[in-house]
Amino acid sequence: MGGVELTLEENRITVLKGPSGSGKTTLLSLIGCMARPTSGRITLWRKLLGNNGFLKDGDTSEVEVTSLPERFLTEIRRRTFGFIFQQFNLIKGITVPENVLLPSYPLGKQHRVVKAWAEELLDMFGLGDRAGARVEWLSGGEAQRVAIARALMNDPPVIIADEPTAHLDSELSGSSWTSWLILKNRARRSLSPATTPWSSRRPSSTGSVPSGTA
Ligand SMILES: Nc1ncnc2c1ncn2[C@@H]1O[C@H](COP(=O)(O)OP(=O)(O)OP(=O)(O)O)[C@@H](O)[C@H]1O
Ligand SMILES: [Mg+2]
Repeated sequence: MGGVELTLEENRITVLKGPSGSGKTTLLSLIGCMARPTSGRITLWRKLLGNNGFLKDGDTSEVEVTSLPERFLTEIRRRTFGFIFQQFNLIKGITVPENVLLPSYPLGKQHRVVKAWAEELLDMFGLGDRAGARVEWLSGGEAQRVAIARALMNDPPVIIADEPTAHLDSELSGSSWTSWLILKNRARRSLSPATTPWSSRRPSSTGSVPSGTA
């Protein structure tokens, strides 16, 4: 890891573009503290680690996260980032709302409050009538919207989405775009890589990942 600086503007969608195998997923994993670099260091704005109490408004200092113990990285993943994985990674065998609620459990918030927020998110994405459904019954587009709702559950400052519509047809991608606009208003920043025409269509800003370099 070296020589990469990424600034995400608030309320913007930032798209990373690059050929297959160029390292977009790898870069997102590193940014989202899901992986550690074999060399180099990663620093995040302290401000981004936001709602965990140890920051102040207007703080422009940085925190070196690479060498933090695993429990701190877990905490950063939980509070700072919402993840939408390429294959959605929904948990089979449980209902749609249970999937959306999952990220909220470790934060220990009142169940009544998080349940109401999960219902609001599902309504927002047109999934109110799918509340009793198991995730294995969902269509691709529905599963994608559940994954977006789950990523927003803890209202994270940054949403990381790894080609969330890569396998959807253009009509579904169009409705996904609507979902993304809603998402954009809810979330303060979001970040998505794109090899598909869909998400490169109307990004707020783009960055390239040249093959094999970070
Ligand atoms: N844990 C790993 N160890 C070694 N090599 C890896 C590892 N993970 C990914 N790679 C390799 O790193 C390169 C970049 O992979 P990555 O998944 O980040 O690409 P990508 O840009 O997301 O591609 P795609 O558009 O196909 O999703 C690939 O050649 C991949 O095989
Ligand atoms: Mg990838």
